[in-house]
Amino acid sequence: MDDALVSLARDFSPHERWELISPAPEPDPDPLRAIEQLRRAHPDWSADFAAAVATQRELGHRARAGGSIPPGPWLLTRTGAQQSTHLAVATRRARHLAAAGAASVVDVTAGLGVDAWACAAAGMQVLAIERDPLTAELCRANVPEATIVNADATEIDFPALPELAQLPEPVCWLVDPARRGTAQRIDGTRAAPERDPDRWSPPWSFVEGLRTEHAWVAAKAPGGFTPAPHWSAEWVGIGDYVVECAVYSLPMAALQHHRQATLLEGFDDGTDLTFPVDDDAAAPVGPLAQFVGEPHPVFHRALPALCAAGASRVSASSNWITSGEPNIPGVRWFRILDTAPAKGLRALTRDRGIESVAIKSRESTAPLGTWRARIGLPDGNRYAVIIARELPEVILAERN
Ligand SMILES: C[S@@+](CC[C@H](N)C(=O)[O-])C[C@H]1O[C@@H](n2cnc3c(N)ncnc32)[C@H](O)[C@@H]1O
Repeated sequence: MDDALVSLARDFSPHERWELISPAPEPDPDPLRAIEQLRRAHPDWSADFAAAVATQRELGHRARAGGSIPPGPWLLTRTGAQQSTHLAVATRRARHLAAAGAASVVDVTAGLGVDAWACAAAGMQVLAIERDPLTAELCRANVPEATIVNADATEIDFPALPELAQLPEPVCWLVDPARRGTAQRIDGTRAAPERDPDRWSPPWSFVEGLRTEHAWVAAKAPGGFTPAPHWSAEWVGIGDYVVECAVYSLPMAALQHHRQATLLEGFDDGTDLTFPVDDDAAAPVGPLAQFVGEPHPVFHRALPALCAAGASRVSASSNWITSGEPNIPGVRWFRILDTAPAKGLRALTRDRGIESVAIKSRESTAPLGTWRARIGLPDGNRYAVIIARELPEVILAERN
């Protein structure tokens, strides 16, 4: 274990720790210089301790700037910070669980404790399990409200665990499997760990096993994951990304719909935007109207619901939609100026005096560079060339 980091976790009160690891106003970006400065200011500190403080300042500064950890003197590791749930998403999950009526949570894969912290902040009692001794130590310092057990959750005899017996019912089991660091198979035949639920730690089969034993189970999976139909699910987007698939098996509804997609702060007023996800429904396909829309990636699964508000898909396999009214939220809208076969594109932009253009080629098999060369214009904001799957012509459009 990293003794200096453990000392920061064990030997200082939260207030003292905050004094040490909150830099003012910004940490020195050069790690060696940061350590040197600390040693000059604190000649009694060991080199290891100064390095630990400098690292915490740097990691903490970055995590706080990204809004990914709660306020306060959080202790981080680089890997732990990468694996932590985004604070807004952890808070949303905890609110769902509390609203459904959970009184306690067993966080089976606590990590540095963001989910555990959010559950405690939502008023639930928290028992957190973490296999890695250093991470468990930091979690104990980060979330003093929770009881932390350093053990492998797949090996614990839970009925015999005294801490579990003390939790008020109903208890929700929460699993956020680690998806990195699993060694690649030598034959290279399997998907990357991120995409292979059997290689998560604990594996998805462990989560399914919990579901057979307990009524209340919640789990976090990557945004590309599709759980079996017996799970409720919410795909969550933040900014331009789909950050996770939150999965629930609860006797009380936690979500508005059995399956839904939510963009945090998706409405202009900063509130969250949700559409139902129905895997059995199909979005209508229709001819291009006046506008073409690029739904946020989290809503690719919710196209039937989006289109029910008055739009259609531009083709059966494209995620682009079209409408006469650019008024469906969660969609970036463009006014269609023209369409043309790909080879007529250069003339199309030249005839309109367009000097720069964005290229939306995610659905094209040709790489972006090929399109850029073909169009011969630099990147721009106002105009866009859209290449939609299965559409015979490309679209020239102006941002609405
Ligand atoms: C994705 S991280 C959890 C992050 C956490 N939800 C948060 O918000 O900070 C997964 C954690 O599970 C731990 N882990 C993996 N397998 C485990 C197991 N079998 N038992 C207990 N912990 C495990 C890893 O060490 C890692 O810290």
